[in-house]
Amino acid sequence: MLQKLIAGNWKMNGSLAANQALLADLLAGLAAQAPACQVAVAVPAPYLAQVQQLTAGSAIALGAQDVSQHASGAFTGEISAQMLNDFGVRYALVGHSERRQYHGETDAIVAAKAQAALAAGITPIVCLGETLAQREAGETEAVVQRQLAAVLDVVGQDVTRLVVAYEPVWAIGTGKTATPEQAQAVHAALRAQLVQANGAAAQVPLLYGGSMNAANAAQLLAQPDIDGGLIGGAALKAADFLHIIAAAA
Ligand code: G3H
Repeated sequence: MLQKLIAGNWKMNGSLAANQALLADLLAGLAAQAPACQVAVAVPAPYLAQVQQLTAGSAIALGAQDVSQHASGAFTGEISAQMLNDFGVRYALVGHSERRQYHGETDAIVAAKAQAALAAGITPIVCLGETLAQREAGETEAVVQRQLAAVLDVVGQDVTRLVVAYEPVWAIGTGKTATPEQAQAVHAALRAQLVQANGAAAQVPLLYGGSMNAANAAQLLAQPDIDGGLIGGAALKAADFLHIIAAAA
């Protein structure tokens, strides 16, 4: 069976002192519980060096929250995949709904970012999800499959190197979680689409994100097509994040 992946997305939170305290608690907890899953944290870019240093040799892999689709040049404020490589970054979120919503990221841009990460040997965590209006209009599957198709068209055979995160927009930071059945139904549709693209893509980890917490993680992670979680708010509290990691055994 696929080893689950529990990834924390710190979003625009943290400070040198807060990160140090959070990681100290996480590392102590992980040393005590020997996780059966993979663990990652996607941190704000200024803290990549700090978190790289503090997690060196540990079970925590380093992630970035975004990556430029460009390799280098006059793109003020952007961070290239090669720059992320300099800090030992293993995962990069691409297409998080907050990037799509507040920074105008289109399906094409998200696909180009996934491609740029892959070219540098970084695993893109491709985020997909429908808004509440789209769910209520019965468009959930069509929306997420369109978002995934844009990436599949660009990455070709490299599909097997992706991680995909289903994050219903209405569940992000709202305390409203998709039910395990709702999440499973979307994951099954995404799995079918991946397998149709490439049989080996059956092994692509499908994470659920959207108000996953210590109380609901076990039920979500028990679904056959939920291979892990992308956790926002609960990843900022060591006890909650450790609880979710334990639920992913
Ligand atoms: O990337 C993480 C997701 O946006 C979920 O955030 O757990 O705070 O709802 P949340």
